[in-house]
Amino acid sequence: MAVERTLAMIKPDAVARDLGGRILAHYEQEGFKILACKRTRLSRAEAEAFYAVHRERPFFDSLCEFMTSGPIFAVALEREDAITLLRKVMGATNPADAEAGTIRALYAENIERNSVHGSDVPETATQELAFHFAGRELL
Ligand code: CDP
Ligand code: MG
Repeated sequence: MAVERTLAMIKPDAVARDLGGRILAHYEQEGFKILACKRTRLSRAEAEAFYAVHRERPFFDSLCEFMTSGPIFAVALEREDAITLLRKVMGATNPADAEAGTIRALYAENIERNSVHGSDVPETATQELAFHFAGRELL
């Protein structure tokens, strides 16, 4: 199994409830190395660019509104099989469907305010890491 890097975001609902540290600890407990972490806030243009794949979906406007509503943590993570495993650790998009013990089952408020993002496939992980971090920030 190859060592991979992936991009997580701790979303505004979780940062507002001071869950950032607990969620970072959850990643570490699951064997991820935190390569980089920053607290930042997305502009409307940045949110629209980050979620461009969803621009035709009915939830796009509301999602961009939510994602710009407060600070987030952008997190670069590394471990074997990181992309697939992060998706498992996060749980399903809708917390009502998320397995017990996953981050979304523990913390998400609803399908939109679902506390965390994780890249879905290797190409997305590469793009999303570059969206938030310069190469020299990822040692
Ligand atoms: O984040 P994930 O990859 O699990 O889900 P997605 O289908 O890529 O959707 C991106 C984000 O849009 C979700 O994490 C939710 O915050 C939001 N969303 C929503 O508000 N309503 C939906 N029906 C689906 C997604
Ligand atoms: Mg997605």
